[in-house]
Amino acid sequence: MPLTISSVCRNITPSTTLRLNALVNEKKQQGLDVISLAAGEPDFATPAHICQAGKRAIDEGRTKYTAVAGIPELRRALSEYLLSMRGLRYDAKQTIIGTGAKQVLLGALQAILEPGDEVLLPAPCWLSYPEMVRMAGGVPVVVHTTMDQGYVPSREQLSWAVTPKTRAIILNTPNNPTGVVWDEAALRMVAEVARAQDFYIISDEIYEDLVYEGEKHIPIASLSDDAYARTITISGFSKAYAMTGWRLGYAAGSKAVIEAMEAYQSHATGNPSSVAQYAALAALTGDQACVEEMRRAFEWRCAAMLAVLDAIPGVRYAKPHGAFYVLADVSRLLGKRFRGEVMETDGRFAELLLEHALVSAVPGEPFFAPGCLRFSYAINEERLAEAGRRIKAFVQELV
Ligand SMILES: Cc1ncc(COP(=O)(O)O)c(C=O)c1O
Repeated sequence: MPLTISSVCRNITPSTTLRLNALVNEKKQQGLDVISLAAGEPDFATPAHICQAGKRAIDEGRTKYTAVAGIPELRRALSEYLLSMRGLRYDAKQTIIGTGAKQVLLGALQAILEPGDEVLLPAPCWLSYPEMVRMAGGVPVVVHTTMDQGYVPSREQLSWAVTPKTRAIILNTPNNPTGVVWDEAALRMVAEVARAQDFYIISDEIYEDLVYEGEKHIPIASLSDDAYARTITISGFSKAYAMTGWRLGYAAGSKAVIEAMEAYQSHATGNPSSVAQYAALAALTGDQACVEEMRRAFEWRCAAMLAVLDAIPGVRYAKPHGAFYVLADVSRLLGKRFRGEVMETDGRFAELLLEHALVSAVPGEPFFAPGCLRFSYAINEERLAEAGRRIKAFVQELV
């Protein structure tokens, strides 16, 4: 047999964000003052009491394998947290802790997909979803939405995309890359279509704590008994507690799905990091003021980011109310010239912006948002203001 690479891995699109990060790092190594508006993580440090719990776990020798689905005290705490904070009644056995929401999402897809099953992806969507669906043997079915419809599909759009092979939909609210928060009517519509056509709802709620201007995050599983029964709720510790490097996420759902995910996880990763689990226990059971403090900072920054974009002619966006991204439609600027070169695509826009203005943003294309750039405002306001000046100067040069 030739020493080939599997078709699954050959066909994975390498992460655009990682390629961009490499370019940014190259510039930084050259001593250049790059401002990154491309980050997918909070710039805050993990709160001290969470770090201390992790350190304590090391000192106390809690450094061995744990139960596959997580330490019982964390699953219990999660079950209580989901009830008190989200209004979701999940028994501890209906929860599983994994190595980041990312791994948990893949586990959920592995648990429910048969080869060739279709998964609906309302788009723009996180660039990992289609790859994960394919990695789990499924077929991603992208449901395109526009800025004018607030990046939320209509009932007709969703229903048209359904076939007898539809097994699931992946929802993500608050959304990466748009920052849009789905309202109750939209969520009810999804729950109704899912019920009528009998498919799973995978609800990625990783940004649930980061909502602004009085907006409310509604877990779709809270809407009805039927929605609860067919939803796999996914979230984690990365964004709300600034714990991206600890790699800890979770799912909650029916016992059957969670047990299947546990069986898969037992052979895929074993258990998530023991030390991170003790830190997460402190995160869930400790003072939640740190979450609110960071949320408030992001709310300020969101307003500052929008003020930056408002000052640039030709840029439009659907107003974000959550996460820490805004998807800026720059299509009206494409086709213009920058220093003699015609700027054709959002990808080239991002490259030129990095090269000449030393500001990094992520092109919209991999999120199914061509003509757009995703700006993250997970940086302090001073740097944000400086980034704004640089973007404005860059755009003023376009002819
Ligand atoms: C929409 C979405 N889901 C999941 C994740 C993954 O989170 P975690 O760090 O818990 O794996 C991210 C991270 O960027 C994300 O944007």
